[in-house]
Amino acid sequence: MELKGRLKLIADITPKCNIVCDIGTDHAYIPIYLVMNKKCQKALACDVRKGPISFADKNIAEYGLSQYIKTRVGDGLDPIEDSEVDVIIIAGMGGQLIKEILEKGFAKAQKARTLVIQPMNAIELIRQWLYENGFDIFDEKLAKEEDRIYNAMAVKWTGKAKSKEEAYYYIGEKLFENRDSLLPELIEKRIRQLDKIIFEMEKMNDKNSKKRLDTIRIRDEISRLFMEYKKA
Ligand SMILES: C[S@@+](CC[C@H](N)C(=O)[O-])C[C@H]1O[C@@H](n2cnc3c(N)ncnc32)[C@H](O)[C@@H]1O
Repeated sequence: MELKGRLKLIADITPKCNIVCDIGTDHAYIPIYLVMNKKCQKALACDVRKGPISFADKNIAEYGLSQYIKTRVGDGLDPIEDSEVDVIIIAGMGGQLIKEILEKGFAKAQKARTLVIQPMNAIELIRQWLYENGFDIFDEKLAKEEDRIYNAMAVKWTGKAKSKEEAYYYIGEKLFENRDSLLPELIEKRIRQLDKIIFEMEKMNDKNSKKRLDTIRIRDEISRLFMEYKKA
């Protein structure tokens, strides 16, 4: 099996491990790829809906991996036992839903050696929540698929809650440190999105609203970080 773009990004950032668990597995392509490529010995492929689980079972059987990859139906981290898996992947869902899954399964998330998080939106919300709840984002990578840039984070619970400059909730600090080749394009896209929001609020006579002023401040912080990055 070949993966590309977003799915390959998730597989690449997943560390070698004994048991990986893919929450919201749908097609189960991620655990299939990880087990086939011997990055993980075994996998649990979980989903809240039975339909995706039937699809996952079919795909796993087609690749002859039913002995190594087991499926379970359930909400968020409910289908796994405490400390049953080394690595938990939560990918392809919105940031708000990922945050809810982590809040509900907090004790299990704390015990994972690594969490791989790949949100489709509200990335700033999930980064802030992770930092404020004692998780460290120790790696982050980007990949481009068609016109869209995706991010994936490797996260670990340290118990040390912290807050960061707000711009780092929008653009991951590790992306600056790693000098990710897609970072300039990501920042330019993000600044254009924020400019559009600021402009729309101005059109709606919302010139001095807190939300508009906050958005301007964040856009300016991101621009400043980008200038410093380019100079370094
Ligand atoms: C868009 S698919 C993403 C599939 C795959 N993880 C990926 O990145 O391509 C989202 C999957 O998450 C599942 N899902 C949604 N909410 C969930 C929850 N609370 N717990 C477990 N799975 C959930 C959906 O049923 C769906 O199969």
